[in-house]
Amino acid sequence: MYSFLRPFVFNIDPEIAHDLAIKSLKLNLLPKSFFETKNEDLLEIDILGKKFPNPIGLAAGFDKSAEVYNSLLKFGFGFIEVGTITPRRQLGNIKPRMFRLEQDQALINRLGFNNDGLEIVKKRIKKNRPKGILGINIGPNKDTKNKIEDYIICLKELHEQSDYLTINISSPNTENLRDFHEEHLFSSLLEDLTSAKKKLNIRKPIFIKISPDIKDSDTDKICELIIKYQIEGIIISNSTDKNREKLIDKNNNKERGGLSGKPLKNISTQLIKKFNKKLKGKTIIIGVGGIDSGQDVFDKIISGASLVQLYTGMVYKGPGIVRDIKNELIQILKREKVKKLEELIGTNS
Ligand code: FNR
Repeated sequence: MYSFLRPFVFNIDPEIAHDLAIKSLKLNLLPKSFFETKNEDLLEIDILGKKFPNPIGLAAGFDKSAEVYNSLLKFGFGFIEVGTITPRRQLGNIKPRMFRLEQDQALINRLGFNNDGLEIVKKRIKKNRPKGILGINIGPNKDTKNKIEDYIICLKELHEQSDYLTINISSPNTENLRDFHEEHLFSSLLEDLTSAKKKLNIRKPIFIKISPDIKDSDTDKICELIIKYQIEGIIISNSTDKNREKLIDKNNNKERGGLSGKPLKNISTQLIKKFNKKLKGKTIIIGVGGIDSGQDVFDKIISGASLVQLYTGMVYKGPGIVRDIKNELIQILKREKVKKLEELIGTNS
């Protein structure tokens, strides 16, 4: 069905196509039965006191203002991450700011945290209870004077509406945001977050979403601090603002912004392996980058990821992607003679 629709969709500007997708998802017309998978219980992941029906989540950036998470859950995702949400509503960068690189099965975006802001989002989620696991990804406003304070405002206001919160320090489209990967800033951020969490008696897990463009030397420090502050999860990774050399598409390969999709796949898998060696299971890893098949999920899981997320793959393969990945994963389990997917986590790291 999607392979028939795709040429029409790809004729439209990518951001307009995305807005149309959100509008049609608001109608919530597709039946859940369209996307059901037999034997899905083999893919269940029991982690952080929650049962994820399967490990495949929708990555942040698609449902930026938490408008359609319940429709997206019907596609068969194990969990949905909405956001990035900032304290105040924000329009983002000037358009055009989203580009397809079809030959590379990739996207470049420099949206810049366009979202409705936490007050609207909070009301929206209160009114429309999530019918599955919901994560909220939070970040600072572009013009804020104090980025850490913005994270804490979002944490305080949104924790009750979420199953976990993601601290996004890795968007390439907010100036200086990635500085939080440096030791002293990362340490102050985690110190302030943990003391706010304690003071406000917040029990929801915190995930930190990192950049794939970090220096090798940053890995050790990040791991040490993540363990020290008992951060529950690390999302590896956001889009890359490097790695343009091998791109085939010559129309859009020079665009500024974050590159996602296939060209990111191995970069993020290698980084997952590196972190898994150092974290030794003390913090869970959520693997993201270039996933569009069961084999891609398998590769990230054996490298150390307990959960995965995707975004760009759905743009290229359509909403049936989650069902197809789950069916392929069940075949892989048979091939590997493994009873449950959980048993494979970190087996090749
Ligand atoms: C993103 N991503 C993203 N991440 C995030 O933490 N906050 C955000 O607001 C966004 N926005 C966003 C917009 C668009 C158009 C894209 C394509 C991506 C990054 C996303 O969550 C993911 O980390 C990367 O896209 C890598 O995964 P895929 O797309 O290769 O599966």
